[in-house]
Amino acid sequence: SPYEMILVERQGPAGLIRLNRPKALNALCDQLTAELADALAALDADPAVAAIILTGNEKAFAAGADIREMQDRAFPATYMKDFVAPWEAVLSVRKPVIAAVAGFALGGGCELAMMCDLILAADSARFGQPEINLGIIPGAGGSQRLTRAIGKSKAMEMVLTGRMMSAEEADRAGLVARVVPAAELIPEAVKMAEKIATLSPPAVAMAKEAVNAAFELPLREGVRLERRFFLSLFGTPDQKEGMAAFLEKRPAAFKG
Ligand code: HXC
Repeated sequence: SPYEMILVERQGPAGLIRLNRPKALNALCDQLTAELADALAALDADPAVAAIILTGNEKAFAAGADIREMQDRAFPATYMKDFVAPWEAVLSVRKPVIAAVAGFALGGGCELAMMCDLILAADSARFGQPEINLGIIPGAGGSQRLTRAIGKSKAMEMVLTGRMMSAEEADRAGLVARVVPAAELIPEAVKMAEKIATLSPPAVAMAKEAVNAAFELPLREGVRLERRFFLSLFGTPDQKEGMAAFLEKRPAAFKG
């Protein structure tokens, strides 16, 4: 493997990326984020991969940006070379990206999980934005994505005080899709990828883009985007196949 801080493997149609800096609780240093960006692009380009799973280990998804590496950074060098920008590689992936979170997802770790298309949480997951304890604030979208995910008061409390949220609270607040027993985390994420692998790839890609657009666009523009995608899918053989299969009471064989 060309990587030192991540592990990449295939599990059926899923491309699995495991953050692998256990001694530092997967703190997101420059090398790790560069490796992650590279692996995401490679899996996105691999036609055998239907969805990508991003995970850590039992103790931590990621405990944030690497504090040791950040300690001596200074302005304006930080502004001239934005070290956070490479983290956003996950936003340009066209296939679904599932964050499978066990243990700590703190600071940049929570932000990275929120940049994924959905979060599947183990019952051991803990989410937080503790940057305020370090004299900084979230820098990779936490103040924005957390607020949109769980609302102003809860997000404000977490960002202002650094309080962590349990998996159960995150589930109630709508931050995560589902909570599963820790031992089931990867199997459940792989099951999701397996289901996605049976579907029409252009429909999956447009579904992902449409839902993500809800975070960016006013309602009317979002609905217009959805409508254009929806109507354009009637130009795909997969729409004919999907509807014929339903009416003939047989499984669909989508070709993409
Ligand atoms: C560098 C980290 C780290 C981090 C943990 N470690 N988090 N190193 N950056 N973010 C290291 C510790 O220094 C320690 O190394 C080892 O991992 C194990 O951590 P412990 O603290 O000993 O573990 P524990 O007592 O179990 O506590 C777990 C913890 C705590 C509660 C998660 O580690 C913690 O509070 N971590 C920092 C969380 C945080 O503040 N995150 C936000 C970072 S700022 P040694 O060498 O001592 O064994 C951020 C900004 C993002 O993310 C903005 C966009 C870039």
